[in-house]
Amino acid sequence: MKKIYIASDHAGFEMKEAVRAYLSSKACEVVDMGPADASRVDYPDYARKVAEAVATDPAASGVLICGTGIGISMAANRFKGVRAALCHDAYTAAMARGHNDANVLCFGARVVGLGVAESMIDAWLESAFEGGRHADRVAKIEACGVFL
Ligand code: RB5
Repeated sequence: MKKIYIASDHAGFEMKEAVRAYLSSKACEVVDMGPADASRVDYPDYARKVAEAVATDPAASGVLICGTGIGISMAANRFKGVRAALCHDAYTAAMARGHNDANVLCFGARVVGLGVAESMIDAWLESAFEGGRHADRVAKIEACGVFL
């Protein structure tokens, strides 16, 4: 069973609740890392929760949602081993897995509706990393320093 850590900020809270239910219906083991309600929070705190979980549990993946998906993806990518992809549709979600081996899917609840979000999740879960030349490029990402 695929294990997925999920979190959001306040702007992504309602979407996070809906996506968590959708992932559970797809027979994923979902670990909700918060927030528990729509009170205002700072997206880096929730990006960090999922990023640290995915970095230490490489078989798992993550989903992060904020208003635009921008801030929460920027924050998640500060963590070594995390490849967080800000996606907007099923095509970018499939490419994020196929070419970039993204282990965290990010999107904006103020940008896409639930139908598009579900199509991104389907594409991302059903796609496989293509390896080959893409593996060489991902290795170069991993060779970059963090917190320089
Ligand atoms: C919150 O207002 C908003 O700034 C946040 O959800 C996100 O869009 C930041 O990138």
